[in-house]
Parts: sequence; structure tokens; C-alpha cells
Amino acid sequence: MSGQLAGQPIFILREGSQRTKGREAQNNNIMAAKAVAAAVRTTLGPKGMDKMLVDSLGDIVITNDGATILKEMDIEHPAAKMIVEVAKTQDDEVGDGTTTAAVLAGEFLKNAEELLELGVHPTVIASGYRLASIKAREILKTLAKPVTSKDRDLLLKIAATAITGKGAESSKDVFAKLTVDAVLAVVDTENGKQKVDIDDIKVEKKVGGSVEESVLIEGMVIDKERVHTNMPKKITKAKILLINEALEIKKTEVDAEISIKSPDQLQLFLDQEEQMIHDMVTKVIKSGANVVFVQKGIDDIAQHYLAKAGIYAARRVKKSDMDKLARATGAKVLTSLKEINDSDLGKAGLVEEKKIGDEAMTYVTECHNPKAVSIILRGGTEHVADEAERALHDALRVVGVAIEDETLVAGGGSPEVELALRLREYSSTLKGREQLAVAKFADALEVIPRTLAENAGLDPIDMLVEMRSQHEKGNKTAGLNVFTGKVVDMWKEGVVEPLRVKTQAISSGTEAATMILRSMMCSPANQAEACHQADPEAWAEWAEWKVWTKRITPRFSFFFWLQWIFLIPLHIPKRN
Ligand SMILES: Nc1ncnc2c1ncn2[C@@H]1O[C@H](COP(=O)(O)OP(=O)(O)OP(=O)(O)O)[C@@H](O)[C@H]1O
Ligand SMILES: [Mg+2]
Repeated sequence: MSGQLAGQPIFILREGSQRTKGREAQNNNIMAAKAVAAAVRTTLGPKGMDKMLVDSLGDIVITNDGATILKEMDIEHPAAKMIVEVAKTQDDEVGDGTTTAAVLAGEFLKNAEELLELGVHPTVIASGYRLASIKAREILKTLAKPVTSKDRDLLLKIAATAITGKGAESSKDVFAKLTVDAVLAVVDTENGKQKVDIDDIKVEKKVGGSVEESVLIEGMVIDKERVHTNMPKKITKAKILLINEALEIKKTEVDAEISIKSPDQLQLFLDQEEQMIHDMVTKVIKSGANVVFVQKGIDDIAQHYLAKAGIYAARRVKKSDMDKLARATGAKVLTSLKEINDSDLGKAGLVEEKKIGDEAMTYVTECHNPKAVSIILRGGTEHVADEAERALHDALRVVGVAIEDETLVAGGGSPEVELALRLREYSSTLKGREQLAVAKFADALEVIPRTLAENAGLDPIDMLVEMRSQHEKGNKTAGLNVFTGKVVDMWKEGVVEPLRVKTQAISSGTEAATMILRSMMCSPANQAEACHQADPEAWAEWAEWKVWTKRITPRFSFFFWLQWIFLIPLHIPKRN
């Protein structure tokens, strides 16, 4: 973008920048965002399809998870990226409902476009949408039903709903049970409120076997075997030492040369090295530990001495596993062997090496902290195991969220139809053009039941009409059974989701849509400089003026001030 001053071009944006503005920019933004939302739409619901994504290196990801699809897509357009952000926020806050959030944001924009065509100003639409979003969340709260960590059956249903439609669906029951058991094992109480940190649950993925063979272990499973075959396979009443430095002789940081002139000297050198390793191992043995996890390497000689002392040792343990072991066993991760106190050691009833398939792993069970649990996730192939892991993640999060928030709503499109109905009633109480935006917002929510029907091969219009009539009769939980094509009570069907899944999807979907609506200017070639929410015309003029004054002012500043000396007296009112 450039202007002209005395025949010289002045560049305001970087050369090669593209600038679109006004309606054109708005249309581009809305189109890009809608396209991204449409990409995940076909994956929504139990009958949604999966997507196969191939990256530039040829790596394949097959998934049904909205956030994963959007993350893997190489998206460049700034407005489209906002939809990816919506899914990411949903994933961080709730773990599930990422497709719903992205589809909603896309539909909000689509409906806003219709209002723009009618000449409604974007800021009016944005404020109407914000009103609708607040009202929608209020209504949702009135639809919510309570749940506690004691309602095991209900928790199983929440997990099953999250897994439905994902790759692991065939083993839904096994998965739901695993999920609920794991989450219940890590529930904590903080200031009288229940808290679930799913990072306490270690998921160890092992390719091979089938998804149904996945198991829950009360304790930690570390994907490492003991380093030496002479070490015991099983240690009861384990005292565990965690070290994050190597049990090896450190290499010098600078190149050093040792000149050895005789075989005796060589022997002396080797003996010295062995002695140093022996000293290290002696410190470990003296500490009273009978199990050692080392984050780095263990020298062959150290392995030999440890085995001789009857100590179980594993090396190259991941940092995240070391931290989890510390939490589970009450051990401290030591950075040096200089001083080891008894309080630095962790405790577990049993540490043993067990084989899964043909790979050995270390099981640390009967831990000092009973909240430590692991899930060994099996899957026929790498892709199956990966998708099962994503489904498990969704399920763990929703069960955790349900226990924390203690509120649930029915699924299957029922809350969206009820919200649409109530929001239409609400819109008629509003004055001004916001009324139109609230009504469009209500229509947009119905994209969820429509898409559920479409993806199941059902007629979306018939299904929606039937659902609307049920809701008008007062059946607030009437939703779509995508397997039978009937409109039924979703609560009774056991299709339930945490309230937070819906509230978060609506709030982040609305925020992204309103932000895109209010952005009038965008230059894809130079996003950082050019995306400006204010009036682009005014901004450009101001920028050009700034450049102009910068060039002119130093030359004419003397005359500039001089003229004021003559002009000011003219403006002073004369006294009588
Ligand atoms: N058995 C069922 N019958 C009808 N609808 C269902 C059933 N199970 C789940 N649903 C509905 O499917 C929708 C969720 O679909 P899906 O899990 O594919 O997407 P998402 O949760 O929005 O995103 P993601 O799981 O990819 O993060 C919700 O509206 C939910 O109520
Ligand atoms: Mg889901």
C-alpha cells in the first residue's frame, strides 16, 4: 500500500502486502471461518464420519475429534484461525464439545451474513449476539440437573456419551467403566469443593491387543524394564530413589587429552573410573533404597553393582514419569547423590516387571499416595490406539468436569432446540434491531440437531420440526435418537453431558463470531500489521498524515510557529 508525496511513493505497509477492506474484507473473513467450521461439521455426533489427515511428511492422523482435526489442518487465514482457537479453548476448558463449538461459531457467522445483507450494522449484530449468549447460558442453567460423584450410573452415561461416535465406540462399556473408576480414584476435595486433575491419571499407550484389553492399574506403570537381568523382578516394600542425573562418569566439557605411557597407568586410570562409579552406587545402597529410577543413563559397571546389591533399577525414565512417580510414592527427585536422607525415598508396596505383549514394563503398585492410577491403553494399530487415547481423554475430562460442576444437561440436540425456542420468545421482548440478531442466534443453535440428523442420514427438517413440537409441548429433554430416527427423551436414553460443555461452546463460539464480524480490515499477506479492528479508511489516512507531517515539520517548523504569533492576537476578543 502506498501514497504519493511530491512524486515519491511512501510505503505504509510492507511491500507486497495485500489489503482488503470494508464489506469485501468482512465477506472474506466470514467465508474463511465458515469454510473451517464446515470442514468439521460432518464429524459431529454418533454417526459423524472420521477424517483422515495427511501432513507434508506423509504422516497420517485419523480422527473424529474436532480440536485435533483443526489443529492438524494447516490453516493460514486469520479469521479461520479464530475458529481453530474456539476449538482449542473448548478442549482446554472442557475436553469435549470441540466440534460443537466450531460448528456453532460458523453458523453464527452464516446467520449474521444474512443480517448484513439486510443492512444491519455489524456492531448491532455483535451486541445482539452477546445478549443472546448471556440469556442462553442463563436458560441452560435452568435446564441443568444435579450429579455427584456418588451417582456412578450417571457418570458411566456421561463417559459413554463422550465416547459415542469415536473409534473406541465398540468398547464403549469397557472404556466408560475404566474412565469412571480412574476419575473417582483421583477426586480431591479443596475448600469443600471436589477437584479432578486428570494429569493424575497416567495413560500408557501400548500398540497391540485390542481396545477391550485396556486395563486400569492402581499405581504407576512406567514403560521401562529393569536394566540388568540379574536384578530382582519383584520387590516388595519398595523404598524408591529418584535421580535425575546419570549414574555414569561425566564426559569433560572441554576436549582433554590424557597421555598414558605405560600399561600400569592405563590400569590405574580404569581402576579410578571404576572406583568413582563404585562410590556412586555405594551412596545409593547406603541410602537404603531397593528401587532406583534414573532419568539419564546407568553405566554397565553401575548396573552390575546395583544388581549385586539386589536393587531394581530402570534408566532413561521420562521427566513427566519421574514427576508422577514422585507424587505417587512421596519421593523427591534428587539432582545429586551427595546427601540422601530417608525422607527423600518414596514408598510403594510392590514394584515388579511385567510383560505386556512382548515388551516389559515396570509396575509400581500399592503406592504411598493411593490417588495414583494408570490406564494401559491397547489398540490394534498405532492409529487405533491414538484415536482411542483421544476418546479416552474426552471421556476422562467430561467425567471430571461433571464431578467438579455437579451439573448435567441432556444431549442429542435437546438443549439447543429448547434454547432456540426460549431465545425466540426472548427476542420478541427486545426493542431495536438487536431483536433480529437474537432471533438469528436462536436459529443458529439449531444447526446442532440438524447436523446430527444429517450425519445420520435422516431428514433434518422433519426431525427438527418434530423436536420443536415436542419442546413446545414442554418436553425439555426431547432430542434425536440417531440410531432409530425417533425423537425421544434424551435423559431417559442416557445421553447426558456436563453443562459446561454447552455453556463453553456457546460463549467461545459467540466471542469468535462477534470478533470476526467487527474486524473490517485484513491483509492476509501481512497479518500482524494490517489486521485492524478500527475503521480502516480513517486508520490509513491517519498513517499517511503521520508520515507526511514527519517529513514536512522539521523544514517548516519555524514558519509554522511564526504564523501563530500573528494569528493569535486576531482571536483575542477586543475589550470595550
Ligand atoms: N447416543 C446419542 N444420540 C444422539 N446424540 C448423541 C448421542 N451421543 C452423543 N450425541 C450428541 O453428539 C454431539 C457430540 O458429538 P461429537 O462428540 O462428535 O462432537 P463434540 O463433542 O462436539 O466434539 P468432539 O467430541 O470432537 O470434541 C452432542 O450434541 C451429543 O449430545
Ligand atoms: Mg464429543
